[in-house]
Amino acid sequence: DGAPLLLHNDTWCPAYCIRGVVSFQQNFRAQDTDIIITSLPKSGTTWLKALTFSVVNRHRCSPGESPLITTPPHELVPFFESDLYLKSQNPDLDFPPPRILSCHTHYTALPQSIRDSNCKIVYTCRNPLDQAVSYFHFIRSRASGSTKPVSSIDECFESMCRGVQSHGPFWNSMLGYWRASLERPDKVLFLKYEDMKEDIIVSLKRLAEFVGFPFTEKEEKEGVIGEISRLCSFENLKDLEVNRNGFHSSGFSNSAFFRKGEVGDWGNHLSPSMAETFWKIVEEKLDGSGLTFKTSH
Ligand code: A3P
Repeated sequence: DGAPLLLHNDTWCPAYCIRGVVSFQQNFRAQDTDIIITSLPKSGTTWLKALTFSVVNRHRCSPGESPLITTPPHELVPFFESDLYLKSQNPDLDFPPPRILSCHTHYTALPQSIRDSNCKIVYTCRNPLDQAVSYFHFIRSRASGSTKPVSSIDECFESMCRGVQSHGPFWNSMLGYWRASLERPDKVLFLKYEDMKEDIIVSLKRLAEFVGFPFTEKEEKEGVIGEISRLCSFENLKDLEVNRNGFHSSGFSNSAFFRKGEVGDWGNHLSPSMAETFWKIVEEKLDGSGLTFKTSH
């Protein structure tokens, strides 16, 4: 996409966010009430941001008056690895605690204060084949303004098979949080994009409970969970004026964060042999971890 990747502490980082990554690792001080959203890019981060923001702030603003209607999710939940963090070393966010922040840093490279404090971490994980297809389209969306022509899907896949992608290798990102969620289930919630697509209500309840804002029986009866799920749905967010126009701080258009929002799109883009090669890598890398994905689409 024109942004070279640099290997920093075993993670491939886009050059434009390397200063932010280092600054985040060195300077960030977590508060016990913080909620940290983490992911490998293109795994449903935007969706998880919208959902978490809505759950936590539901008593301040109803879905009909949500700031999500006028502000992209990534502006409401800032990336602490981006320049935003550098600009504001002592972040004073508009919303009172709990702060909701996000990053793509691998678990083992998180600032110590995140691992040591009582803050909560929510990770969204996606089938690596769909994540890869989404990533390819995403970087291609910026190709016109870049200095380097975007690679073909074959080239892009060849890189990803070697773990070379933004915040890759994907297996390190996923396995770090997967293991942490098994060891510290009260600290790390591991969500799968596919499970959220299958039953968003169940996932929303898990999320709300985990971050300390469980839905009451009354709220359930009144349909609050359904309202939040509809507000944050792909169809709703994608069509909002604010997400169709404007740009993210990284230079991508806001609309690039909303493409298709489906499970199994890899079947439309990968040849059977590419998919087979990729699955072998996924199996080999995740072997013995207990983390699995459906191979059908
Ligand atoms: P596709 O490219 O497969 O459509 P991220 O937010 O981590 O950058 O991930 C982007 C991916 O999540 C894109 O996938 C995007 O369309 C999808 N997405 C964005 N908002 C979503 C939502 N509200 N529900 C489901 N998927 C969503």
